[in-house]
Amino acid sequence: MQYITQAEKLFLLRTDETAYLLLINEYGHPEHLHYGTPVALADAAALRYKRTMPYGAEVLYAEDDPTYCLDNLPLEWSGIGKGDFRVSPIELELPDGSYTCDFVFQFAKLQPGARGAATLPGAYAEESADAETLVLTLKEKVFALQLELIYTVYPHENVITRSSVLHSQEASPVRIRRMMSQLLDLPNDGYRLVTLDGDWIQEAHRHDRALMPGCFVNESTTGNSSNRHNPGVMLAAPTACEDSGNVYGFNLIYSGNHYTAVELSPRNMVRIVSGINPLCFCWQLVQGETFETPEAVLTFSSHGFNGMSHNFHEFILHRILRGDWKAKDRPVLLNNWEAHFFDFTRRKLLRLARRAKKLGVELFVLDDGWFGARNSDHAGLGDYTVNRKKLRDGIEGLAQRINALGMQFGLWFEPESINTDSELYRNHPEYAMQLPGRTPALGRNQLLLNLANPAVRDYIVENVSSILDRANITYVKWDMNRHMSDMYSAVCPAGELYHRYILGLYEVLERIFRPRPHILLESCASGGNRFDLGMLCYSQQIWASDNTDPIERLKIQKGFSYFYPPVCMGAHVSQSPHQQTLRSTPLSTRFNVAAFGALGYELDLAELSPIEHRQIKEQISFYKQVRHTLQFGRFYRYQLPETNKDVFLAVAPDQSHAVLSFVQTLATAGDSNDVLRVKGLDANACYRLTAVPQKVSLARFGGLLKHIMPFTLRADGFILRTANRVHALPDGPFSLCTSGAALQSGVGLNDQFIGTGYHKDLRLWGDFGSQLYVVELEQEEEAE
Ligand code: GLA
Repeated sequence: MQYITQAEKLFLLRTDETAYLLLINEYGHPEHLHYGTPVALADAAALRYKRTMPYGAEVLYAEDDPTYCLDNLPLEWSGIGKGDFRVSPIELELPDGSYTCDFVFQFAKLQPGARGAATLPGAYAEESADAETLVLTLKEKVFALQLELIYTVYPHENVITRSSVLHSQEASPVRIRRMMSQLLDLPNDGYRLVTLDGDWIQEAHRHDRALMPGCFVNESTTGNSSNRHNPGVMLAAPTACEDSGNVYGFNLIYSGNHYTAVELSPRNMVRIVSGINPLCFCWQLVQGETFETPEAVLTFSSHGFNGMSHNFHEFILHRILRGDWKAKDRPVLLNNWEAHFFDFTRRKLLRLARRAKKLGVELFVLDDGWFGARNSDHAGLGDYTVNRKKLRDGIEGLAQRINALGMQFGLWFEPESINTDSELYRNHPEYAMQLPGRTPALGRNQLLLNLANPAVRDYIVENVSSILDRANITYVKWDMNRHMSDMYSAVCPAGELYHRYILGLYEVLERIFRPRPHILLESCASGGNRFDLGMLCYSQQIWASDNTDPIERLKIQKGFSYFYPPVCMGAHVSQSPHQQTLRSTPLSTRFNVAAFGALGYELDLAELSPIEHRQIKEQISFYKQVRHTLQFGRFYRYQLPETNKDVFLAVAPDQSHAVLSFVQTLATAGDSNDVLRVKGLDANACYRLTAVPQKVSLARFGGLLKHIMPFTLRADGFILRTANRVHALPDGPFSLCTSGAALQSGVGLNDQFIGTGYHKDLRLWGDFGSQLYVVELEQEEEAE
């Protein structure tokens, strides 16, 4: 239950499991009292920071109060030039040329539901009872500027979103050089700062660091939310682990340059500000205008990182995702990219589609290369004329054929980019983002279109919409394959361009996809270069990474899972050896990892052996039975003592069943005594735990087959090569019944193969081996 009161200008924001307490102090500054486990209004005096003595070397705010120094106080907002020397949430160039600003309380308003923003996507509440909003209105002490601090409380998701809005009534323009969405000051508890960092094909790797005095900035400067540093940031108590301890999570509903500064002050207070990156940012606000910041999302859990993630996952499932696909199971797709790259014809596509259909694939996706002169990544972006040499009856014809096979049809677009070798560039070079007098820097041989320009936005909306309306397309992959550079626009000042680009992108997505809610939108930016809450307001899933190696994917999917639920992560089974790592992995492991996401296949099915076809068919059929749990269930990570193992777990909300993936990275000799612990079950219920049947290829054993067979065969001989195409060995069959309590405590698994003999129940894992396990509630026998 949420409870807010205005008594004594004290505000308690309650969610089911957290409380946030703040007050307006005697100087009109909003002071932070508490964020974390539930407390009551009556605790305010105890929680308040005590001011008894002045410190030396301080700037005092009020002449007659030697203890009131802004630098020492936990605040909800701050200004510049009045004695708070920590990182500021706002920097304004004021009409008198100064930067000093001081915002003080004017009035507060409570309203049911979420408030929403006029220019930016944000979280929403379908029923007004699902959220409550507190707006604190402050005013600048000298200039006619009003600042709103907006807090929306989502009680069941244990989330509070915050944003700030600036409104000017000043006759002269004000320049906003920095404006954050939120500021939070917490007493330090020895926190670790946890971020998700990476690059192309190595997105969202987790990094932990101790907080040290000074400021650490997690930011993106590439124009997108970036694969360098995801906007999600965590603060964890020293003893916090996956299932226990205090963890705070912060994220931003924004897809552009983001910025989160975490500062440990000399008074041992932690300040977290987050918002739009001030880099190259300068926004002119004239009289009567308003500037909105993106919503920052805050959560807290005393149940460790998993608890924090559950709050975020619920929030995304209920308050961010939209459209017909919001809560619908995602179809199993096949994407033709890694099978064909640019080299395809209608015939080739249909051959692949027929094979896919036989395996149980539900959605066939045509990737890059279907338009203009797009036969390589040097040409064609910006054009929408279908390449009739490749597709003689166009996209419509292909979609009809795919539909006739009994599959849905999906299509790739990269609407934000342009090749100089394109009809669009020849006709409208001014649409591209480039600086007059400078040779533009290319990324993947392309420039970006200037989405701040309304004519560009109209061009994209008209062309994409017309294709979507001509053919039966129920899925779109919206790609964006470069960082931003050469930022210049004839239509807006350079200081506004990064942000106006993102506003333009949101407008385009809004105009194309809101009227077409039947389309499942998967956003992509060279993989996970734009994996953020802003994109999730439009796209129900995001391609997590171009890296589909399952061992690499463990780190990537695990990293994203801190903030984003598995259903939002596109995850594909691709070929082995893997194209980026040259690593060979069993087909079972490729599936066992990709199953914890929106599953797809992305490989040339013609290259598979009959036994691999059979295995994929079984994988897809199994996935369809349990996908609701895998996609929408409660997802758990594990913190295992062994560094060569990892586990993903998804539990159905009613605890009736669960699916678990146990993966071994590099095998270590004799590493056999594995224990499986299943979290989140009903301790008193009885469950059956079963290993999902899988096979391991004979080729994996080479000459070692002599351990398994009564006779010796040459490892590279004709018989084994032929047998390998049609036969494989059962891998790790396992089944038992036990209580939820025993499963939580840990069930011992069978041994792994260690060359001492063969048993049909052995786990034949080796390097990169893995197994899926299903846990199902045992039906109690009816009494006779
Ligand atoms: C990007 C995407 C890939 C694929 C190619 C097509 O790299 O991440 O999945 O769509 O573009 O050019």
